[in-house]
Amino acid sequence: MSVRVAILISGGGSNMVALADSMTGDHPARPCLVLSNVPGAGGLQKARARGIPTAVVDHRPFKGDRAAFEAELHAVLVQAGAEIICLAGFMRILTEGFVRRWQGRMLNIHPSLLPKYPGLDTHARALNAGDAEAGCSVHEVTADLDAGPVLGQARVPVKPGDTPDSLAARVLEMEHRLYPAVLRRFASGDRTPVNLG
Ligand code: GRF
Repeated sequence: MSVRVAILISGGGSNMVALADSMTGDHPARPCLVLSNVPGAGGLQKARARGIPTAVVDHRPFKGDRAAFEAELHAVLVQAGAEIICLAGFMRILTEGFVRRWQGRMLNIHPSLLPKYPGLDTHARALNAGDAEAGCSVHEVTADLDAGPVLGQARVPVKPGDTPDSLAARVLEMEHRLYPAVLRRFASGDRTPVNLG
């Protein structure tokens, strides 16, 4: 019986596509749901094109009532039989209450070499710091933003003339390799860190 994976997105879902397309053959997991907080998220169409069930839980009607939004989110995930959650470009901060219900079963990909640069604008920050390398991290989600145990990292060189966009594009290519590699191990109960690049 495959492990059921729900993927949460807010935008284009390129990481969702990489994850979904990796769950084939002898992979221990299969995608059971792609859920977005944004009704028109481009990733929803990509999921439908792959025959993956989709759902939308729009956070706006909840008018800042995070607990109510997350209660609906949780209900949809439970209904879908999700056993692992992969946050993939999901741009809502989850409260400790929600995280506690899924701790140990929820992953996120962050576009920096954690613990460096938690939060936003990671590539601009790396460039401003004059870093020689950048990258991405997959970590377990805990109540502290971008601070859970790291399960994988991928490194890329910073090149002369890089802009935040050119660096983001280079990192994104590694995200699409790293996240599937970590999920495959994680779904089989293996937490040995993955290191790429
Ligand atoms: C990626 O850079 C990822 O690291 C961050 O969201 C961005 C967009 O991801 N979490 P996607 O293309 O929507 O998967």
